[in-house]
Amino acid sequence: MSTTTEHGAAIPEAAAHASAVRCRGIEKSFGDGSARLRVLRGADFDAAAGEMTFLVGPSGCGKTTLISVIGGILSCEAGEVRVLGTELRALSNRALADFRLAHLGFVFQQFHLLPALSALENAAVPLVARGLGHRRAEERAAALLERLGLADEMRKFPTQLSGGQQQRVAIARALVHEPSLLICDEPTASLDARSGHTVMELLREVAVAPARAVIVVTHDSRIFELADRIAHMSDGVIAREERRAARSATHQHSLPSTT
Ligand SMILES: Nc1ncnc2c1ncn2[C@@H]1O[C@H](COP(=O)(O)OP(=O)(O)O)[C@@H](O)[C@H]1O
Ligand SMILES: [Mg+2]
Repeated sequence: MSTTTEHGAAIPEAAAHASAVRCRGIEKSFGDGSARLRVLRGADFDAAAGEMTFLVGPSGCGKTTLISVIGGILSCEAGEVRVLGTELRALSNRALADFRLAHLGFVFQQFHLLPALSALENAAVPLVARGLGHRRAEERAAALLERLGLADEMRKFPTQLSGGQQQRVAIARALVHEPSLLICDEPTASLDARSGHTVMELLREVAVAPARAVIVVTHDSRIFELADRIAHMSDGVIAREERRAARSATHQHSLPSTT
């Protein structure tokens, strides 16, 4: 499938979605007066559908702040925050909440699973919350858990699962409503190196899709090889970008300019 420009030139479908996230000149400070801390200092950042973009940089450089702005969790003071073609800063709080619910998925360092629910029930929560019947919700959650290698753990409760298994349940929960943007903040930080790598490989396999952009914040250089693109952050801006070897046909379109 392709679309055409006004001059009739064909644009591959991936390119039409290329700029799933486009941030320009993001400014964000915390505190007032002499305690004011300028965290984002005119940050530009892009993430494309069909790709896994890593956001890396030293602790405290503003990674979580930036993805919180992109995820509509934090507001910023200046700049453009365009997500899936929508300028988030133009939305009311209500519209922003609806936008997040419909289009975004989140995975955090701490898995935040509900302890009284099984793995299957945890993964189905977002669909049930959106009004789908329990049975259909659990069917869809089960299919995803199977792809994440948890076919035998679905009836277990979080305390009966390893850290890596719990994070895989959290990934299933973040993807079960098929978000167009998945944001993961240090998803391997609570895991040992080996299960961290396994979780990231599975995340890549299950989450990366032509119509979905995936952003992963990490400072774990052992998993950099799994990125399509790496944005290096320092002192509140993206200082450098790096493209990794293409991993699939969806990566053949050109990158949006970040200047
Ligand atoms: N809610 C907040 N109030 C005050 N300062 C904050 C808040 N959130 C983050 N900061 C500060 O902003 C800086 C960047 O934080 P953060 O975005 O969490 O960095 P990173 O995720 O790269 O480690 C840090 O100095 C942090 O202490
Ligand atoms: Mg952080």
